[in-house]
Amino acid sequence: MTAPLIIAVDGPAAAGKGTLAQRLARALDLPYLDTGLLYRATGRRMLDAGLDPATTADDQARRVTLDDLSRTDLRVPEVDRAASLVASQPSVRRILVDIQRAFATRHGAVLDGRDIGTVIFPDARVKLFVTASLAARARRRWEQMTADPDAPDREAQIARVAHELEARDAADSSRAVAPLRAAPDAIHIETDDLSADEVLAEALRIVARMTR
Ligand code: DC
Repeated sequence: MTAPLIIAVDGPAAAGKGTLAQRLARALDLPYLDTGLLYRATGRRMLDAGLDPATTADDQARRVTLDDLSRTDLRVPEVDRAASLVASQPSVRRILVDIQRAFATRHGAVLDGRDIGTVIFPDARVKLFVTASLAARARRRWEQMTADPDAPDREAQIARVAHELEARDAADSSRAVAPLRAAPDAIHIETDDLSADEVLAEALRIVARMTR
């Protein structure tokens, strides 16, 4: 029997990896896990408990369950920052490894994150590294967040988002443990000039090639 198919989708914030991973999972009928939500849920629990997310978050990480991931208050700016802070703690990352590996064991999975191809599933059959320029990522993230596409200070808002993304990428890439990094055998997809459909088509071609 062949091992269950695991597809790792890594890359910086707002590069389009979540959209891709979700659509890949649907197309291939695989379970999907957004692993960033585990760090967000841990950060959220720290804030809810009145704790500084820069301090040890082990107890809160241990309490995270898959149910926590459907909370609607995980994608707010204070949680962006809290998640990045708890994600830099080696003990938190160790605690969250099990839940990620267990998720994919039986049926395989598509997982998106920063260290799926390097740390969580170094033997994943398919590893994708999704990138886009800072400008493209900031514009996309701003479009997701904003209610008013005609806001007069649109460019200033986009510049602020770019600044926040850059700071978070710098923190995620420079941390000592499991930094954001492409696995040596990852296949890169640059999404600046591709539609979501084109990114999916490219990823499906790669999957077909790697699983023949
Ligand atoms: O993908 P995201 O933006 O929701 O991730 C939130 C934070 O969690 C981000 O700052 C990086 C961190 N993260 C991580 O360190 N490892 C992962 N596999 C996924 C996310």
